[in-house]
Amino acid sequence: MALPSVNPTKTTSWEKLKTHFEEVQSLKMKELFAQDPERANKFTIKWEDFYLDFSKNRITEETFKYLLELAYDVNLKEAIESQFSGEKINETEGRAVLHSALRAPESAVVEVDGVNVIPEVYKVKRKIEAFTNEVVNGERKGYTGKPFTHIVNVGIGGSDLGPAMVVDALEYYKNHLTTYFVSNVDGDHVNEVIKKLDPETTLFVIVSKTFTTQETISNANTIKSWFLESASETDIARHFVAVSTNLDAVSNFGIDSNNIFPMWDWVGGRFSLWSAVGLSISLAVGYDNYACLLEGAHKMDEHFKTEDFKSNIPVVLGLISIWYNNFFNAESEAIIAYSQYLNQFATYLQQGIMESNGKSVDRNGDVIDYQTGTLIWGEPGTNSQHAFFQLIHQGTKLIPADFIGFVKSLHGNQDHQDKLTSNFLAQTEALLNGKTEAEVVAEGTSEAIIPFKVFQGNKPTNTIFIQKLTPESLGKLIAMYEHKIFVQGVIWNIFSYDQFGVELGKQLASKILQEFNKTSIEAHDASTVNLLKYYKENS
Ligand code: F6P
Repeated sequence: MALPSVNPTKTTSWEKLKTHFEEVQSLKMKELFAQDPERANKFTIKWEDFYLDFSKNRITEETFKYLLELAYDVNLKEAIESQFSGEKINETEGRAVLHSALRAPESAVVEVDGVNVIPEVYKVKRKIEAFTNEVVNGERKGYTGKPFTHIVNVGIGGSDLGPAMVVDALEYYKNHLTTYFVSNVDGDHVNEVIKKLDPETTLFVIVSKTFTTQETISNANTIKSWFLESASETDIARHFVAVSTNLDAVSNFGIDSNNIFPMWDWVGGRFSLWSAVGLSISLAVGYDNYACLLEGAHKMDEHFKTEDFKSNIPVVLGLISIWYNNFFNAESEAIIAYSQYLNQFATYLQQGIMESNGKSVDRNGDVIDYQTGTLIWGEPGTNSQHAFFQLIHQGTKLIPADFIGFVKSLHGNQDHQDKLTSNFLAQTEALLNGKTEAEVVAEGTSEAIIPFKVFQGNKPTNTIFIQKLTPESLGKLIAMYEHKIFVQGVIWNIFSYDQFGVELGKQLASKILQEFNKTSIEAHDASTVNLLKYYKENS
């Protein structure tokens, strides 16, 4: 069964939301809190080690009710069922979407074309586990008999961002292996990494679902040439492994068939860190931690699948985001994690969210006339407070923000943790309440300066407070956003799992690349012709 195809703007709930928006758009959250002492409790979900407070949003109980009705009007329940049961909901590519199967228990049955995929998933997991243990314990050695000390993940997009973000986020849990990520086709990237490597003790993990991606293949070839300056062809088998669905292309590259970790076409690139694409995570933090990451994601899957919508974290977050995007016309969302470990989290989510929901044609193939995918950006707190928070507090734009924090620090420095948490709590309070003119005056501010020190407040935030950053809680957090993406894609009536939008630039780049070696320049717009000439003349 395909996903339901309902134009959200034609539903009864959307009509209700439109009328309701006119009534509530200028309400002040501060007043809503004053009117209802139970507001914070009503708009809080506590689940496992997660505490989601969504009370600092420009919503009333009526708003929430209509948003929940919207979820039912677009048949979200059926859509969730279709996804988890392996139906080919990625219709434009004819594929199932089953990253959830990668973290399901071994006893689960998830069928694609009538075949249960779980045994195959576990076969690959065992291979990852055995390989990880051999490398971490030093049993698996390089071509001169030395144990590995460095791992280099070569991949881009979903074959880089997920593993890179997780390895960074789980630094506290890392073992002795040093892990690098090479992604950009910018040769300076690979060369800067190579500079730090010893070919005798480095293991290369080439990750490409298609094994045709220009960046990854170019970087892999450059690394192979560098490796062969000291080692011989037969040594490649010890030092290069690959993760891919394209087994022939991997063999042609010269990688031993025993060193291939397969993946499947029902795993989307940006949702693939749960597959063998996560091999470098397993190597960096050990298989047991990697398994806990998957277990956390599985727990979130179960929550998303079974929890009533009103207390279903991804559903609630998705609906609130729709409220701002489609009714308040907010264009972007900020993700602010109060943890330096989550330094790459917003960057990672940019691909997940924007590659998935940056679409303007609906599931009937018609151009749509309402807003879809939000712009995603963010940096960790407290650093971001000293960078772009000025605009969130006093700029002209409405920027809903997710504040993610952890109750306990990993190194246990309570003084720092208290300071961090006080900032975490203070910012959402400041965004909610702002500062009135009367308060500014009371501070003794000189008259001419008063307007500049007023904060309008009424800026919406979600607070996601988690007990502690562990592999399991990180797995839950990532899966939470994955499901939020799905909820929004279903509501917007778009296909979230293709990415045709990245193809055009790739095609033109390969055409232009060929022209660098030709004397004539082919038909381009005048601007591109000038730039092309400039490069050819000066490079
Ligand atoms: O940029 C498009 C894209 O297809 C992403 O969706 C994907 O994660 C990335 O390229 C890398 O693709 P591959 O794993 O096939 O090299």
